[in-house]
Amino acid sequence: MHEITTYLRKLATHTSSRIIESLEELGAAAAEKVSKGAYGHLSSRIDVIAEDALFEALDTYGLSWNVFTEERGFVDNGDEYTLIVDPLDGSYNAEHGIPFFSVSLALSRGGLNDVEYAFVRNVLCKIDYWAEKEQGAYKNGTRIRVKDRRNLFVIYLGKKSHPRAFEIARKVRRVRSFGSASLEMIMVAEGIADGCLYIFKSGGALRIVDIAASTLIVREAGGLVLDDEFSNLSMNLDFKERKNVICVSGEHVLEVFE
Ligand code: IPD
Ligand code: CA
Repeated sequence: MHEITTYLRKLATHTSSRIIESLEELGAAAAEKVSKGAYGHLSSRIDVIAEDALFEALDTYGLSWNVFTEERGFVDNGDEYTLIVDPLDGSYNAEHGIPFFSVSLALSRGGLNDVEYAFVRNVLCKIDYWAEKEQGAYKNGTRIRVKDRRNLFVIYLGKKSHPRAFEIARKVRRVRSFGSASLEMIMVAEGIADGCLYIFKSGGALRIVDIAASTLIVREAGGLVLDDEFSNLSMNLDFKERKNVICVSGEHVLEVFE
């Protein structure tokens, strides 16, 4: 594990512990909307606590990267690296007692395709996933790779989803939808799912903060992360940008779109 990844682990561990303590302490108050985030969305108390914990840990470890994050926006420290952060991916789950949410951290010298170090912690299961560019993807220290033909797809099926998402859901044997894009994509990386689809009927579905880390983890595990035109997904550090995401274990999986 590269030294930078060890720092990402420290940041994620600290943030996760604060999320767990705060959820226990606050109960239903964790879900109260308390401020407006950089994406113009309303942030809950637990979102803000998670982000504060992350900044506290950056301070503790003397890390002065720029930070691009959900609540504070872009914090420019004049560094060549930017930490792209979702301090709590799966906020609704965390707020409502659904045990599936993460801390997602990606260190990049540009946008999505320049991420060099990625770290995602499944907060409650205390499972760490990480990847370093061209060095593979890992789950708690064990190398992970995509697997073939699991017959399971993770598909976003909410009211904003594209009719195509329902068509695909009808074709495949097992369908799941869990509400944390980072962890859902990683299900492809670790060989649990064949694909993870987030396709909205208008506009894009996901933001760079949601998937910056999981994209590198999937690619380093041998999977593909594509846009809705089947090109390699690319995203900028831009609060207005949202993209549909097709994440698959291999090209053959794309036959479900035929
Ligand atoms: C959300 C989750 C969810 C996805 C949303 C994201 P958040 O992130 O990843 O699965 O459907 O589009 O915004 O708001 O919990 O950080
Ligand atoms: Ca979030």
